[in-house]
Amino acid sequence: MKFNETELKEVERLVSRYPAGRQKSALLPVLHLAQVANGNWLDTETMDYVASLLSITNIEVYEVASFYSMFNLKPVGKYLFEVCQTGPCNIQGAKDIIAYIEKKLGVKEGEVTADGLFSFKRVECLGACGYAPMLQLGEHFKEHLTPEKIDAIVDEHRKKAGL
Ligand code: FES
Repeated sequence: MKFNETELKEVERLVSRYPAGRQKSALLPVLHLAQVANGNWLDTETMDYVASLLSITNIEVYEVASFYSMFNLKPVGKYLFEVCQTGPCNIQGAKDIIAYIEKKLGVKEGEVTADGLFSFKRVECLGACGYAPMLQLGEHFKEHLTPEKIDAIVDEHRKKAGL
């Protein structure tokens, strides 16, 4: 993956927010940009490219990318369910919801459905404990999950994809 001209301008803008020599501070937003440009995941080649753009070492990028759950280090479906598994969600049935998602999609955590549409992963608290159990899908939170809600979410996104 290489950034296009527009994306490179955005990288420049992000880096310019920090003092000279502190370009590493732009790493998180640049990684987000790279992930989107690379089909929602970061392979080694993409991370190395980001490192070269920011003049930092490859390992500095790997450390950050592997720390935050919002970065995917393996290919994911077009729609990625990030299901909260932390205490309050767990008490409210996150385990059952995860088991239901696994059965519904027919894939294990980290795998992608055959049509390329869905995958899921477990994440830690997303700060919406009052709406447990919940998951994040792109920029949206899906809350008070039940098997029926999962069915509706999957159906809605299959339709969106024209299936
Ligand atoms: Fe799930 Fe906080 S525990 S959002």
